[in-house]
Amino acid sequence: MTGPHPAEIDTSTPHPARMYDWYLGGKDNYPVDESMGRQMLALDPRVPVMARVNRAFMHRSVTWLAQHGVRQFLDVGTGIPTEPNLHQIAQRIVPDARVVYCDNDPIVLAHAEALLRGTDEGVTQYLQADVRDPDAIVEGAREVLDLDRPVALSLIALLHFVPDEDGAHELVSRLLSELPSGSYLVMTHATADFTPEESEVAAGKLRAAGVTLALRSREEFTRFFDGLELVEPGVRVPHQWHPELGDPVPGQDDGVIPGYGAVGRKP
Ligand SMILES: C[S@@+](CC[C@H](N)C(=O)[O-])C[C@H]1O[C@@H](n2cnc3c(N)ncnc32)[C@H](O)[C@@H]1O
Repeated sequence: MTGPHPAEIDTSTPHPARMYDWYLGGKDNYPVDESMGRQMLALDPRVPVMARVNRAFMHRSVTWLAQHGVRQFLDVGTGIPTEPNLHQIAQRIVPDARVVYCDNDPIVLAHAEALLRGTDEGVTQYLQADVRDPDAIVEGAREVLDLDRPVALSLIALLHFVPDEDGAHELVSRLLSELPSGSYLVMTHATADFTPEESEVAAGKLRAAGVTLALRSREEFTRFFDGLELVEPGVRVPHQWHPELGDPVPGQDDGVIPGYGAVGRKP
């Protein structure tokens, strides 16, 4: 794997991976990301809590999956590494877990080395690809994962960057169609259901800066799980999904977390 040419990292517009890194207190972001992050904070000071709640959902859902025998993970929209990363959570429980990470942002590729340090028994690999090119993802994943055995497909805080015009629901169906029975879909997604006006202002600001935000209702989110069996407790605000599997995020109950999380099993 080769790193991106520095010229590939566009520092003139905000990028979701780098804004998210800024919310989480990371250092892999640029002034343009911080500036847009601050605008989001001015609209809702709880944005960093939301980012942590989302990350904590990833920790708990991967813990649940590993505890339920899942040994293979395909994580699309990985983000800039933030410990613990998905493979570290999975391999603590299943040391030989195999994980393929995938993101379309060159900044993630630049930091991918941190995603590749796992257990000796397990395997981690990084693939630079866009979720709108599912064939490339499946082809790359096949080199590391046995697609005849169950895989957890995690699309965490990713699909609200993919509008309906790009076929968000069809892309998920296409990826799942390559995975066998016993595989899982793991998702979180932003919504405007709880705070319609604030969410619309935030989406408008991001849109003006070149970042698409496709906020989806509970029903539109649930539709990603069509044909799957939702794992109890079903669709929830992310921190209410199996809270017993992790520590609460400070501030998570102080107001609305405008998102949904769920896990579904392919029958
Ligand atoms: C908010 S971050 C979430 C990171 C991680 N999944 C988490 O929940 O902690 C969203 C990630 O999705 C990536 N992303 C956005 N659009 C994408 C696309 N079309 N294909 C692949 N990755 C994408 C961004 O680069 C970013 O790293």
